[in-house]
Amino acid sequence: MMKALILSGGKGTRLRPLTYTSAKQLVPVANKPVLFYGIESVVAAGITEVGIIVGDTQEEIRAAVGDGSQFGAKVTYIPQDAPLGLAHAVLIAEEFIGEDSFVMYLGDNMIAGGITGLVNEYLELGCNSEILLAEVPNPQQFGVAELTEEGQIQRLVEKPEEPRSNLALVGVYMFDSTIFESVKRIQPSARGELEITDAIQDLIDRGLSVHPHVVRGWWKDTGKLEDMLEANRIILETLDVRRSDHQHRYPGCQLEGRVEIGEGTEIVDSVIRGPVVIGAGSRIEQAFVGPYTSIGDGCTLIGCELENSIILEGSEICRVPRRIDGSLIGRNARIVATDRKPKAHRFMLGDNCEVEIS
Ligand code: DAU
Repeated sequence: MMKALILSGGKGTRLRPLTYTSAKQLVPVANKPVLFYGIESVVAAGITEVGIIVGDTQEEIRAAVGDGSQFGAKVTYIPQDAPLGLAHAVLIAEEFIGEDSFVMYLGDNMIAGGITGLVNEYLELGCNSEILLAEVPNPQQFGVAELTEEGQIQRLVEKPEEPRSNLALVGVYMFDSTIFESVKRIQPSARGELEITDAIQDLIDRGLSVHPHVVRGWWKDTGKLEDMLEANRIILETLDVRRSDHQHRYPGCQLEGRVEIGEGTEIVDSVIRGPVVIGAGSRIEQAFVGPYTSIGDGCTLIGCELENSIILEGSEICRVPRRIDGSLIGRNARIVATDRKPKAHRFMLGDNCEVEIS
């Protein structure tokens, strides 16, 4: 039997300020937490015994995922005291995994077409480990693989300053229990973490078989704003709704392309150009919502235009004179125009927020 180990601990420094208050794995893409895509693809591959590594944000993760039954999975939470590295997460999961093989899935990664084919390939090959690689323009920011001419792995290095290839390690790995000896043998890296990249290198050094699979479809590590927006665009591209489903519900509005609208959302005198998802209980008035926008539950948008953005639940955007583009707006944020004097911009921003005014 295969198990899954999903990593949802760690610190989300690159998605601050959102991740001061909440887990980066729960930031929504097309109104669904990134983590849920991972859990769903694990379950789709026939794996239902799922361990989830959790850290400081564990309460929020537990509240969202529960016992896993909503996904058809049985979830066991494995608390990690501090984010000491991906290989450390494997180390503390040994009791949960036991003698089984497992797929390790980084909770902030999204991969096209799921992992069913990959899990099946791993089981058929019967190798000790299978890793996924993808060509990226910025390999310095990933684990990097160097392959031989025959396509075997020569060397794996975590975030090298001078990468020897453009093949990054994707955050989905398959292992058998030989990985436990390797995670015990390695030393912390310069950034003070037990790196899974080093543990896999150790498997290779011990003469065990590690199969590299180069993925051709898209794959996203959603750690940064640009990646979140791109993942959002890719998922919305697959949205499957017809506007005829809604048109009659919102007289006086123009709904173009694929638009998904939640229960109780009111849309008045607006143009919504899909692909767009809007959550439940929101209000949209005299607004333009352009392509590749996800709006959460309970948002209010009045007299504004936005596109290519992710707006989390409870936010309010009113009478903003310019179009909002390429933005990620956290829960209960307010961006509103007022007539108050003096005529000025007024901000109350949390730490590490970013505002660009044109
Ligand atoms: O996304 C692919 C990359 O993921 C690989 O190319 C790298 O080789 C691999 O080291 C990893 O790099 P990152 O620096 O992006 O990993 P990050 O610290 O973002 O952690 C990935 C996920 O694992 C994230 O959801 C948080 C979780 N995590 C992380 C650490 C360090 C834990 O649960 N525990 C941890 O100790």
